[in-house]
Amino acid sequence: MKQTILVTGGTGFIGSHTTVELQQAGYDVVIIDNLSNSNANVVDGIEKITGIRPAFEQVDLNDIDKVEAVFKKYPIQGIIHFAASKAVGESVEKPLLYYRNNLNSLMNVLELMPKYGAKGIIFSSSCTVYGQPTDENLPVTEQAPIQKALSPYGNTKQINEEIIQDYIHSGAPIKSIILRYFNPIGAHPSALIGELPNGVPMNLIPFVTQTAIGIRKQLKIFGNDYNTPDKTCIRDYIYVVDLAKAHVKAMTRVLDQETDPVEVFNIGTGHGYSTLEIVEGFERATGVKLPWEYAPRREGDIEAIWGNVDKANKVLGWSADTPLDDILRSAWNWQKKLREDGIQ
Ligand code: UD1
Repeated sequence: MKQTILVTGGTGFIGSHTTVELQQAGYDVVIIDNLSNSNANVVDGIEKITGIRPAFEQVDLNDIDKVEAVFKKYPIQGIIHFAASKAVGESVEKPLLYYRNNLNSLMNVLELMPKYGAKGIIFSSSCTVYGQPTDENLPVTEQAPIQKALSPYGNTKQINEEIIQDYIHSGAPIKSIILRYFNPIGAHPSALIGELPNGVPMNLIPFVTQTAIGIRKQLKIFGNDYNTPDKTCIRDYIYVVDLAKAHVKAMTRVLDQETDPVEVFNIGTGHGYSTLEIVEGFERATGVKLPWEYAPRREGDIEAIWGNVDKANKVLGWSADTPLDDILRSAWNWQKKLREDGIQ
């Protein structure tokens, strides 16, 4: 009997890739998305890849009655909760919008889980909870101290982790795995799904691919005076397909195995690359020359962070093995497909 998984934010970047991996692992998937930052035709892309159309419900998670109707309609056993507003800068300008959307949506889902017998929830958190780790805490483990968030967006990740912990400690009959992602990048090898940011991209890779295809004139590398080997920032860039597979491992674990009620895992590669290495890697992998220049530091940026992912390797039996050049090529192929389709 197939288990049914609710994927909130399932038409988004990570949600769509995770839906594909869940289906390929034999799960039935129901997507909830309000399409505030994605498009319903992502469901077509998913179906083209897997041959299975996931159920899709256009519902805003803040509307608990509509969410409850979804729980009534499908036999949901597990939930992967991606749905959230995620623009760091916008969250500084509109904090209430971020707190309302990101906290209420999780609380609504948690409240309905026991009533409908849903047993496990995977929460999409972020390495942003660690702030800038000290040198001795790099690569950062799950035990590193949580630091005060630099934005309301980052704060919603921290508070949501605490909401889950508190709810489960209160005796709610559910379990959770919290995944703290590093920097997800790339696109499905089919180029049928990928990242589609609204307006000018804030994240590095969409800016790189949009520059390479001519939508943006020049990439700015923010800061060349950091205390790193080549003076640019360091991040742990994880392939979105590898990241999606970590969710399948986590889902299977939370539903089918005896585990602690709440577990936390870093999900990254364990390696740090500088911004300059990514730019050079992109040129090497694609053969495309990228116009770029150094620019002042971006406010709020962390100098260097990469993950210790031993716990996920050992306990989840998962690792991220896709080579960087393949990941960067997948992002480029996706950008070219958007151009072919007349989308960008
Ligand atoms: C950002 C968010 C983080 C969020 C993550 C989601 C901030 C401060 N942090 O992380 O909370 O979880 O996205 O993916 O916004 N860079 C350039 N030029 C660009 C764009 C980026 O040099 O045009 C550099 C940045 O300075 C950074 C690196 O590339 O060093 C990665 O940036 P980005 O993709 O925005 O991710 P983060 O800032 O790590």
